[in-house]
This record gives sequence, structure tokens and C-alpha cells, in this order.
Amino acid sequence: MILGERMASALRGGEVITLRAPLAAGKTVLAKGIARGLGVTDIVTSPTYTIVSEYAGRLQLTHVDLYRIDGEEEYDQLAVNELIDSGTVVVIEWPERAGTYLPEGVLAVEITIEPNGDRTVNLPGALTPSREDGTRP
Ligand SMILES: Nc1ncnc2c1ncn2[C@@H]1O[C@H](COP(=O)(O)OP(=O)(O)OP(=O)(O)O)[C@@H](O)[C@H]1O
Ligand SMILES: [Mg+2]
Repeated sequence: MILGERMASALRGGEVITLRAPLAAGKTVLAKGIARGLGVTDIVTSPTYTIVSEYAGRLQLTHVDLYRIDGEEEYDQLAVNELIDSGTVVVIEWPERAGTYLPEGVLAVEITIEPNGDRTVNLPGALTPSREDGTRP
């Protein structure tokens, strides 16, 4: 996934990226692209059943899917926020499930599905990779 790879090039470690989007919008596909861009060679699966998966690459990647958690306290118990200072990049699908437990300062990505099936991805500035001349696309 080319967009995810380009987003990955802007990452330095310690970022929390939330992917907010309707069911089957492409969150996992985007997470796989970020993983590829970070040089993760393991196969990134949909983490729905495992909730938290960790991968090694140029930076460590922690892929979190909160779809099946049972209330926002379960997010707190997963101790994802405690990982952030370790320098891992955290990508969270279904961040709305974490409610008030989400950390401050997340990079919030939103994917919307257009009526014709196209996807529109809204990126925060920090994830919009610079061109080689330093300008943003
Ligand atoms: N940019 C895109 N344009 C069109 N289809 C896409 C795009 N990205 C992903 N898809 C398709 O959408 C389907 C769901 O993708 P994916 O599993 O990444 O969604 P998801 O948002 O993670 O779903 P879930 O809500 O179950 O976690 C896949 O079949 C994928 O091929
Ligand atoms: Mg998914």
C-alpha cells in the first residue's frame, strides 16, 4: 500500500496513529502499508482476535485492533499507552473503542468510503510526507 509506505517515511518512533473508519474501509490494508514502509518483513495479519501484535522493522510497530474489546477499561488493561515511551510506532484500529483512555497527541487518520467506493484518507500534517524539496504535496 503506497500511501502507508509514504506515511511510514515520516515516522521517527513513539507516534500513535489512530485509524478511524467504518467497517472494512481499509484500516488493516493501510496498517500493512505502514508496516512495509517500516521494513517489517513478517506478514501483518488482521489483529482482530489477538488485539495487540508487535512487529520488528526499522522501528518497532505495535498494531492494535480494538474492535472486540469489551469497554474502554479493557484498553487500559492492555497497557498500550505504557508502550509509547519505548519508541514503538503504535497503530490503532477502532480507536473510538478506547474512549477517554486514548493518549494525548495521537495522529488521527480518517478514512471515508465515497458513494462510488473510492476511499478518502484524511492525514494529519505530521504524516504528510515531505517531497524531496521539502514542500508538502
Ligand atoms: N483504498 C481502497 N480502495 C478500495 N478498496 C479497499 C481499499 N483499501 C482496502 N480495500 C478493501 O476493503 C476491504 C477491507 O479492508 P481492511 O480489512 O483493510 O478493512 P478494515 O477497515 O481493516 O476492516 P475492519 O473494520 O474489519 O477492521 C478489503 O477487501 C480491501 O481489499
Ligand atoms: Mg481491520
